[in-house]
Amino acid sequence: MTNGSNNIKHIISPLARQTLLDGDLTRPVAGRRPIRLLPWLQVVKIGGRSIMDRGADAILPVVEELRSLLPEHRLLILTGAGIRARHLYGVGLDLGLPVGSLAPLAASEAGQNGHILASLLAPEGVSYVEHPTIASQLAIHLSAARAVVGSAFPPYHHHEFPTSRIPPHRADTGAFLVADALGAAGLTIVEDVDGVFTVDPNGPDAASAQLLRETSAAELAKSDATLPFDRALVDVMLNARHLQHVQIVNGLARGRLTAALRGEHVGTIVRTGAAQT
Ligand SMILES: Nc1ncnc2c1ncn2[C@@H]1O[C@H](COP(=O)(O)OP(=O)(O)OP(=O)(O)O)[C@@H](O)[C@H]1O
Ligand SMILES: [Mg+2]
Repeated sequence: MTNGSNNIKHIISPLARQTLLDGDLTRPVAGRRPIRLLPWLQVVKIGGRSIMDRGADAILPVVEELRSLLPEHRLLILTGAGIRARHLYGVGLDLGLPVGSLAPLAASEAGQNGHILASLLAPEGVSYVEHPTIASQLAIHLSAARAVVGSAFPPYHHHEFPTSRIPPHRADTGAFLVADALGAAGLTIVEDVDGVFTVDPNGPDAASAQLLRETSAAELAKSDATLPFDRALVDVMLNARHLQHVQIVNGLARGRLTAALRGEHVGTIVRTGAAQT
């Protein structure tokens, strides 16, 4: 009979003997910058309300611009939810539905916008892919096609944080999370305004609105002014690992998206908390 104790395999792990709750203990192991999985990827978030809800007048020029970008860039195009999600929030909140029930319903609206956009780009080999495909097979899809389209909404679904009645993590947050996790080259958020203004340029104080050419997540965190993107994105940007900035551009002004992807400053650049390399 063999002595069982001689066959015990010990697995050495630097985190085996300590709590994962003490940052000082985990930092030497977990504090390093993760690798960039897809460093050549450009992520573009197309606004649901600002672009898709406007129909052909806004969508077709954006599709044309995306089409002309394909020879230059490999793109993950992500769509927001728009007006149908707002209607859904209204009905759902009236019925008392919890935030975890509203989140997946709103996410399905973002997916519908993605399907519309992908259909228009289909002749270029572009198709809509679901989140599990983005998570595990994006590289192979982008080897076969220059771009894919997905829903920008993050799949928190029934696990959405119950910090507010409207899902706090919406399309902008979702687009940033996936772009940062993949170590993408950049994220461009396409809106119907020239960038981030001091106050809503379409609101009651529009006359005093001034465009911020450049700002930071840290600056935005200090104010509670409305923004053209999810407030939750500010917190997520503060904790970014790769993306050092995002650019918000006006998709109704032809050429801005193209210029932004070429590295030009044509909207608002928001610096994140990611360490400079
Ligand atoms: N400080 C601000 N600077 C610029 N725009 C602002 C600001 N505050 C509010 N806005 C408004 O945000 C609007 C864009 O709306 P929103 O971000 O909800 O659309 P969207 O990104 O297309 O939506 P979705 O989340 O469905 O994709 C702009 O048209 C503008 O009126
Ligand atoms: Mg927006």
